[in-house]
Amino acid sequence: MPPKYFKTSGHLLVCQGQNCQARGSALLYRALWNHLERASLAYYKTGGTVRLTESGCLGACSSGPALCAYRQREGKLEEGWYAAVDFPLAVRVAQAVHEGAALPEERKYGP
Ligand code: FES
Repeated sequence: MPPKYFKTSGHLLVCQGQNCQARGSALLYRALWNHLERASLAYYKTGGTVRLTESGCLGACSSGPALCAYRQREGKLEEGWYAAVDFPLAVRVAQAVHEGAALPEERKYGP
């Protein structure tokens, strides 16, 4: 039997490279998971749709913690790359992904 596939609204990655960890990315990752669980946004919760994983370096080492979000929106792959991410911004990105709303513009870098 194949593994269960969870349909999701998008995927967040929080960098756990050395530079981002020195700026609190491990705590940010744990806090974001706690929020996704409590708010039932995590993909495995009823009604939840958001994936979250740790990542390696996202190329913003001197401006961490870095976070990348990607999803399908209006038939296209959409990416959002963020530097100097704090918990409130991470929550706003997760909420926008969950709702299919526009991603926040603040602290974006890259495409
Ligand atoms: S260590 Fe996080 S972006 Fe490079």
